[in-house]
Amino acid sequence: MDLDVVGRMLSTLPADDDHPYRTGPWRPQTTEWKADNLDVVQGQIPTDLDGVYLRNTENPLHPAIKNYHPFDGDGMVHVVGFRDGTAFYRNRFVQTDGLAAETEAGKSLWAGLAERPSLSLMDHGWGARGRLKDASSTDVVVHNGVALTSFYQCGDLYRLDPQSLDPLGKETWNGAFPGEWGVSAHPKIDDATGEMLFFNYSTEAPYMNYGVVDANNELVHYTPIELPGPRLPHDMVFTENYAILNDCPLFWDPEGLAQGAYAARFHRDMPMRLGVIPRRGGPDDIRWFDCEATFVLHWVNAYEDGDWIVADGFFQEDPSPADNGMGDKWQRAFRFLANDRMKPRLHRWHLNMVTGEVREEQLSDTISEFGMMNGSYGGRKHRYTYAATSKPGWFLFNGIVRHDSLTGTEEHYRLEDGVYGSESSMAPRVGSTAEDDGYLITLTTDMNQDASFCLVFDASDIAAGPVCTLRLPERISSGTHSTWAAGSDLNDWATADDPATAVGL
Ligand SMILES: [Fe+2]
Repeated sequence: MDLDVVGRMLSTLPADDDHPYRTGPWRPQTTEWKADNLDVVQGQIPTDLDGVYLRNTENPLHPAIKNYHPFDGDGMVHVVGFRDGTAFYRNRFVQTDGLAAETEAGKSLWAGLAERPSLSLMDHGWGARGRLKDASSTDVVVHNGVALTSFYQCGDLYRLDPQSLDPLGKETWNGAFPGEWGVSAHPKIDDATGEMLFFNYSTEAPYMNYGVVDANNELVHYTPIELPGPRLPHDMVFTENYAILNDCPLFWDPEGLAQGAYAARFHRDMPMRLGVIPRRGGPDDIRWFDCEATFVLHWVNAYEDGDWIVADGFFQEDPSPADNGMGDKWQRAFRFLANDRMKPRLHRWHLNMVTGEVREEQLSDTISEFGMMNGSYGGRKHRYTYAATSKPGWFLFNGIVRHDSLTGTEEHYRLEDGVYGSESSMAPRVGSTAEDDGYLITLTTDMNQDASFCLVFDASDIAAGPVCTLRLPERISSGTHSTWAAGSDLNDWATADDPATAVGL
């Protein structure tokens, strides 16, 4: 491995920190590395694996004003790139405006998710609730050859070179970016059209907007979506002709909101509503379907089947788990991050566009979330979902489950105790001929070896274990979302002698 340090950030976190989401497998990194020719610990890097795996993580640098929530940490993107049977790695903080201001101040300036906005030292900020730092730490996608990081409470989209992770500033869409509301995490890329579909949300009417950015990075559609009040949508999904937005009955309590408190409450007596809108449709074109009450954090995919829209996502059995006194104070405080408490399971919604009928079915008994599929099947009928299983009580992934929705069967891969994975992305093989003809990639946080590894699986046989394991320079923090981008979708990838340092733009 050829290794250089390219940056280091100053941390003011105490050495005796006891917060479980700032220590152990969530210990933040402060060093930015540049590593070429990664050491292969086991197996061989497939020569038909070509492109980049990107992953966003939370890495706080300063103590919270009062109470830290893991989603407050500053975004750091990791990239592992594969070409010609070799691999490189880079990690870089997302250079957000908030990070710059807090670096200058040497302390936290904004109250986080577990704190009232009134605690913020700044009177401005980002996000649906306002006076929050946009950490750009939630999601990462590649659109129009550029990596875009985003934040779950809405904010800017930060542009990064997807190979070097060099910062390229904020997305503007030639001045059309909706700066006041920002954009939510989980913009969706349609590989077939090159479009990016997105939404945002706010505590102000109409409470949501939906938009489309075309393959040339122009905002070509932006329309209000009227909701009954402030909501907390997290993800969306699309088909060839429709976008599907959601109005889940878990939202900030209006009485609390009036007092400046942002406490989410689940209303089991209210339906979850799915809104189906033509991809370029206006506010009057949306059609709402009432479904069983739940909160869907993440969707997998959707497609059209005759008169039906079919959407796969994760149905939470208990979106608002009560404090049952089990576990330590941290587990009780962060029970909303523990999948064994919320019990999400892969679920399918069928929506009839002619009759309005709704049918629902549970696809799997396994508690799992963070489901990914072959991105080139986005909006089209897919068969395989690759999801994460979780360590009970914690926001830590302890394995991968591959679900086959045609046969209803599943394959599991369980990581060793003390080893945690990331959201696993599917990388179609160069020249791929089938949906599962490719590789599944994840990064581990290995507490046993105090190290991190990149694991590459055969996507059609994850139970066989990784086909290769690569060592990263340093143990990385656990975190949130990931994506895969094929080399053919990256600028200059094919012509650069060294794709990691190519200036692609
Ligand atoms: Fe998410």
